[in-house]
Amino acid sequence: MKIVIETPRLILREILPEDDKGIFELDSDPEVHTYLGKRPITSVQQAKDAIAFIRKQYVENGIGRWAVIEKESGAFVGWSGLKLMKELTNNHINYYDLGYRFIKKHWGKGYATETARATVDYAFNKMALSGIYGMAEAGNARSRHVLEKVGLRHEGQFMYDGVLHDWFKISKM
Ligand SMILES: CC(C)(COP(=O)(O)OP(=O)(O)OC[C@H]1O[C@@H](n2cnc3c(N)ncnc32)[C@H](O)[C@@H]1OP(=O)(O)O)[C@@H](O)C(=O)NCCC(=O)NCCS
Repeated sequence: MKIVIETPRLILREILPEDDKGIFELDSDPEVHTYLGKRPITSVQQAKDAIAFIRKQYVENGIGRWAVIEKESGAFVGWSGLKLMKELTNNHINYYDLGYRFIKKHWGKGYATETARATVDYAFNKMALSGIYGMAEAGNARSRHVLEKVGLRHEGQFMYDGVLHDWFKISKM
């Protein structure tokens, strides 16, 4: 098991096939999917497919979202981190997107903020990127708040999948 980042309370490591039950708990919850297109999954097979999709990105792109593990309990609590975006999005392509998604019972503990901050540091200091981006559905106030708290600036709005989204960026100082 490769640990990529360690924060005071959390470990970020590669998503593994055995995270399927955790991903199912995460992605079958309609509330988690409120601002993600409202298409929660309905089977563990879909969770396995999602894991395979992310693990393929590790091989092809050298990076993908990481599993977040609570140190105290050893529990899978969600995912966070960077994704190389290879499809044209808001007129950008081949850029790194900061994202996160947590099982509902773990919301409000500051985990999104803790992992996003550590990811920004990793992007600039380990990967030597010059900038990273973030996006969130316009109603997703929690996510917007996290992106802004860790230093991303709101740069405008755009339509994605027929829904208004906010667009954010942080550049290396
Ligand atoms: C968005 C999400 C990742 C936030 O995770 P989290 O671990 O609860 O976030 P944090 O605890 O680090 O921070 C949440 C912040 O939003 C604030 N917040 C909570 N509810 C809010 C609301 N309704 N409106 C605005 N801000 C809100 C909290 O007070 C906190 O800020 P603070 O630390 O300054 O008090 C989580 O809710 C989630 O997984 N949502 C579903 C998936 C998703 O939407 N992902 C983002 C896609 S762009």
